[in-house]
Amino acid sequence: HEQEAFVHALRRVELHVHIEGAMTPDLLFTIAKRNGYQMEHDLFDWSTTAEHGAETTATYKEYMDLNHFLNVYTKATEVLKTHRDFHDLGYEYMRKAHSNGVMHAEIFVDVQTYVDRGLEADDVVHGLEEGFSRGQEEFGISYLMLGCALRHLSPDQCVDGMEILRPYHEQGLIHGMGLCSMERGQPPSKFLPAFQRAKDIGFERFTAHAGEDGPASYVSEALDVLGVTRIDHGINGIKDQEVFERLRKEGTMVTLCPLSNIALNVIQHLGELPIRKMLDHDLKVSRRRPWWRVEHAHAQESSPMQFSINSDDPALFNSWITDNFIAIHKEHALSKADWIKISHDSIDGSWADQERKEEMR
Ligand code: HPA
Ligand code: ZN
Repeated sequence: HEQEAFVHALRRVELHVHIEGAMTPDLLFTIAKRNGYQMEHDLFDWSTTAEHGAETTATYKEYMDLNHFLNVYTKATEVLKTHRDFHDLGYEYMRKAHSNGVMHAEIFVDVQTYVDRGLEADDVVHGLEEGFSRGQEEFGISYLMLGCALRHLSPDQCVDGMEILRPYHEQGLIHGMGLCSMERGQPPSKFLPAFQRAKDIGFERFTAHAGEDGPASYVSEALDVLGVTRIDHGINGIKDQEVFERLRKEGTMVTLCPLSNIALNVIQHLGELPIRKMLDHDLKVSRRRPWWRVEHAHAQESSPMQFSINSDDPALFNSWITDNFIAIHKEHALSKADWIKISHDSIDGSWADQERKEEMR
């Protein structure tokens, strides 16, 4: 329990979170009320807890898989209309992040979804920016906004999506680019035109959701064709020996979201995540060597995998980043040294500037 208190008290860096996925039922109801918006869909389970004076609370219903989840996620965002809504969404995330010990967050936003519905991109991006920067002043949390190419749209539409982001890249408000939404049947190469356009616009930081419900080959393709330097989820990649070795050797940051994977039936059990293998030096290299060369082999030829632990869509999964840390700790019984490695890698693998990284270390 002393160990668990240590994990609880860690300062965290969140590299994989979608702002849409951080909208709690309470915030959704507040926004719906003031917008006079009637949610047609029944997204919630209700429970009454006697201990809190018969208070009724809502949680999002369970999901069958990634595509089912994405439906709910998209429907929930229909409530968002105004600059103020986006401000509140951004600020409420920062408050939650603060209570989870977060010191730096890199946050995806699906700007194109709102523009396609007729909202002003300025209301979305400037609204969020005001909410985040208020959180930064109040809690000292640094943040970077990341745009997304959305795989449920066509490749041409994704190119248009990059143009929507151009002014915000120029204003220094959107820092990097990801590849998000449904994955199976949507190979990364299909979205190369969008990534090329993002490079033309001046983006330099790229990541992709890959190997979540798509195959290991999508992880390789994201690295080879799109030129990403980070992989989000990567589960089917790290389950594949060859792709695992490549990610490890190249020092690619893999952003794990363990409780998201459970919620979306990407894995059935946290024990399926090869956390021990990701933390340890490559034993195969050392076993092939005489005992007196083992030290040398460790130092020279193998290094552990770079990965971080994140929440993905904390409100929709009802599990925040601390919950993810504790769940991994309980399943894999990590040592303090393991947690310090994960914390340092999360800082080093972030896209914060050098000065901020040094502050956080
Ligand atoms: N995968 C793909 N797209 C997403 C996810 C996810 O887990 N969450 C929000 N958008
Ligand atoms: Zn995600």
